Amino acid sequence: MCGITGFIGAGQALPFLMQGLAKLEYRGYDSAGITLVDEHGLYTCKTKGRLSELEALLRDVRCPQNCGIGHTRWATHGVPSQLNSHPHSNMKNTISLVHNGIIENYAVLKQELLAKGYQFTSETDTEIVVHLLDEHYYRDRLPMFEALLKTVHQLQGSFALCIVCTDEPDRIYVAKKESPMVLGRCESGTMCASDAPALLEYTKEILPLNDGEAAILKADSLEVYDFEGNPVPENWISFPYDVQSAQKGGYDSFMMKEIHEQPSVIRETLRGRFRGEMIYMQEIDRLHLDERDIRRIYYVACGTAYHACIYAVTQLSRYARCAVNAMPASEFRYGSPYLDEHTLCVFVSQSGETADTIAALKLAKSHHAVTTAVVNVLGSSMTRLADAVLYTCAGPEISVASTKAYTTQLVLLACLNVELADVMDWEMPGRREMIRDLQILPEAVEEVMGYESTMEQLSKLLKDQRDAYFIGRQLDYPSALEGALKLKEVSYVHADAYYAGELKHGPIALIEKDSVVVAMATQPEVAAKTVSNIEETIARGAQVILITTKDMPAEKFEHVLRLPNLCPDLAPITGAVLLQMFAYFTAELKGCDIDKPRNLAKSVTVE
Ligand code: AGP
Repeated sequence: MCGITGFIGAGQALPFLMQGLAKLEYRGYDSAGITLVDEHGLYTCKTKGRLSELEALLRDVRCPQNCGIGHTRWATHGVPSQLNSHPHSNMKNTISLVHNGIIENYAVLKQELLAKGYQFTSETDTEIVVHLLDEHYYRDRLPMFEALLKTVHQLQGSFALCIVCTDEPDRIYVAKKESPMVLGRCESGTMCASDAPALLEYTKEILPLNDGEAAILKADSLEVYDFEGNPVPENWISFPYDVQSAQKGGYDSFMMKEIHEQPSVIRETLRGRFRGEMIYMQEIDRLHLDERDIRRIYYVACGTAYHACIYAVTQLSRYARCAVNAMPASEFRYGSPYLDEHTLCVFVSQSGETADTIAALKLAKSHHAVTTAVVNVLGSSMTRLADAVLYTCAGPEISVASTKAYTTQLVLLACLNVELADVMDWEMPGRREMIRDLQILPEAVEEVMGYESTMEQLSKLLKDQRDAYFIGRQLDYPSALEGALKLKEVSYVHADAYYAGELKHGPIALIEKDSVVVAMATQPEVAAKTVSNIEETIARGAQVILITTKDMPAEKFEHVLRLPNLCPDLAPITGAVLLQMFAYFTAELKGCDIDKPRNLAKSVTVE
């Protein structure tokens, strides 16, 4: 998720570019850059680091140009660096572009361009686009817009592009497929950006581009076409939000925005990983695990990421023919775990900067264990320590409470477990159904979004309560842990999670009239057991929220939420969304600061 801005008009372009990038910094901020164009040529300034670094570089530079493009980067290909930052230009330095998205077939296109003599200066997928434009504009001698249309037909994946060139310094070319791009206009010019907040200081009149559309922006006009070059109707809207709420996508908080981003970021995390029943996790091929006689596997993390580890271990231990264990990083690093070259350690972290997890990773490396990191932030510390890295593609997670990072961790760990079964030649029960349902998971997660108002109503059960209890068995247990943590984090309601079978061994003493019990019963072999455990709590006056599958008999329960039909291993992912919403609305009910809960930090970089 990068931030893009473009402006052409009567006045200077730079002020618009920079204020727009500042409004989009929540979309990613590991590097930033701008290109301005006029009759004298291109002027590009770009740097690794936050937008403030770019502002410092530009402070004493005179930039009268009235046409330009800007970019803040959330790296997906190529670690954060000056060379990998956008804009990227062709070898002649006459064409410059910025990009948001992932070009899936960039490697093939790069090889073809290298064979034609093109030279690359970055590791990014983006750079192939500017060289394709160069090839079609200079070698095929096509007008720039036709060169753009020819280029976009060669690209697979997602892209929002902004392009300027020295032969036509009076216009900006834009193209959009899957990544967002909105256009705007006002008396001082026309503009474009990845998201509306960047435009709102200049105009509330915006035109969201649709997939497969390209546009030509000039100082006092703009034209929109499809990728075949046919003009398309322009559906301008008057944007209803102010900047602050626009950055939250119109939601009241980043947490709710990020809850709703889960279908798309799960789709992005799974992108390109399936061919029929084959799964592609080429990032771990380099570990040659089948040649290492792996005798034990540890999954290690903190907080929410640790719950993802418990999910992975619960799933893998059903068929792995070696010891499999999940540990909090803070315990792993001091617990003298047995580690050697026959040990695989998987470290999970949204930020890639959590001190305990980094220390655990270093401990594993010091004992020659094979290490893999599952991380959301490209180029973060853990990605530079681990032997192999798998990226969740959740985009920047702004809210302190982790939501979309968690579900994309579950997705990626489920894929890794399939890959481990394949590489280690372990017979994985339900493998076929897992592969099948992973490919419909985004739609299933979208479906549970329909429970939002129900969860808001159910949160009222906690209005006068100070405690809540979450229970589950097998793969439902990490869901219970995560549901309890979310509730504690954002609403400050005390919550505990128990194995459902453990309730009667003590915790049930806590249950009294109106106690709220959230029960996860999605795993066929044990769901009925959990349901009978719940009856024990109802007999003592509890109010039970049952999250289960469509085929589970539950007539006697008042609050039943039925998840979409998915294989049991994936039910915890759709279930997690309901528990996130439950925590969210409880926090809202109690007037808490949802995005910035008291005492918490987004990344715990100290012990
Ligand atoms: C999650 O809601 C919490 N904010 C916290 O438990 C978090 O998961 C934990 O600190 C680990 O962070 P990481 O994933 O960045 O390593």
